[in-house]
Amino acid sequence: MHGDGLPEASRVQQELKELAKVAEGDLKDAGSREKIEATRVHFLGKKGLVSKILRQMGDLPAAERPSIGLVANEVRDRIEALIDEGIARLENAQRDLVLLESIDVTLPGRRQRMGAKHPLTQTIEKIQDVLKGLGFDLAFGPEIEHDFYNFEALNVPAHHPAREMQDTFYVDRDVMLRTHTSPVQIRGMLALKEPPMRIASVGRVYRRDQDVTHSPVFHQVEGLFVDDKVTFADLKGTLASFVSQVFSPTARIRLRPSYFPFTEPSAEVDMSCFACDGQGCRLCKNTGFIEILGAGMIDPEVFKAVNLDPEKVSGFAFGIGVERVAMLKYGISDIRLFYENDLRFLEQF
Ligand code: DAH
Repeated sequence: MHGDGLPEASRVQQELKELAKVAEGDLKDAGSREKIEATRVHFLGKKGLVSKILRQMGDLPAAERPSIGLVANEVRDRIEALIDEGIARLENAQRDLVLLESIDVTLPGRRQRMGAKHPLTQTIEKIQDVLKGLGFDLAFGPEIEHDFYNFEALNVPAHHPAREMQDTFYVDRDVMLRTHTSPVQIRGMLALKEPPMRIASVGRVYRRDQDVTHSPVFHQVEGLFVDDKVTFADLKGTLASFVSQVFSPTARIRLRPSYFPFTEPSAEVDMSCFACDGQGCRLCKNTGFIEILGAGMIDPEVFKAVNLDPEKVSGFAFGIGVERVAMLKYGISDIRLFYENDLRFLEQF
């Protein structure tokens, strides 16, 4: 026992805690790494204050040493933590200084430009949504296609002008970039196990053609419905609903007899001009109608090519040019605008 009345162990513990407080004060406003290092040596070094106190433990009864060792460890940990904090504080301050020198925080921020979907993507998504609503499943086919799917099975005879080098990009004698999405019909019907089947396919097609309304690469949508008693009235109803949903609720359709090798009978489908509602204007060249797609009942020859019995199944198909739909919908007169990616054009959609 010492003169102050405290047991020796309590006095040493007290001294240690005081040291932690002093160290805290010293480290709080240590403005340099050197100062922090000096403080560390001062308290925790071999000849530092904590060690010095611990050395006095030898004078104490063995029973009191563990409790002092405990406090000594706490104090050492505490001071080490304060040192780490001090170093982190200095590093942050240093980083802020560098940023302050390189960034003018008074400059206005940079505006983030919002992207938007390309008008063709918007048109494709609209068409797909409407067709899905009409019960069609989405189907896909390759863009590099074999003659069998692109022409042969679609009843396009070998001498047909569509097969000419001027119209088709050939990869090989029998392999080409598909000239339309109709081969997806063939692939769909070949895979058909049990009618009915309703599929729609959107994709790129390729033709050797280039002017303000024709691009060598463009997009088509193909629709196909096969069942046991499909009629021309089903085709008409589907197309009327499709056109009114894609263009305008008041849009009407008109069918004109036409010819496609893969449909019989075939029709060219016009819709009432949405600019003048059928009254006649510049857009519809005063006819009140605009041609938008080709369609017809599946030709028996096509059914035979895909091993279906034309006596047992029937069906309709239609093909739409996506660019043409988008040009009409948005009043665009040059197809090339879709592919030039000029923001002044794209930002309008
Ligand atoms: N494949 C035709 C074309 O590219 C479009 C077409 C017409 C598709 C009539 C059809 C159809 O499915 O029945 O010009």
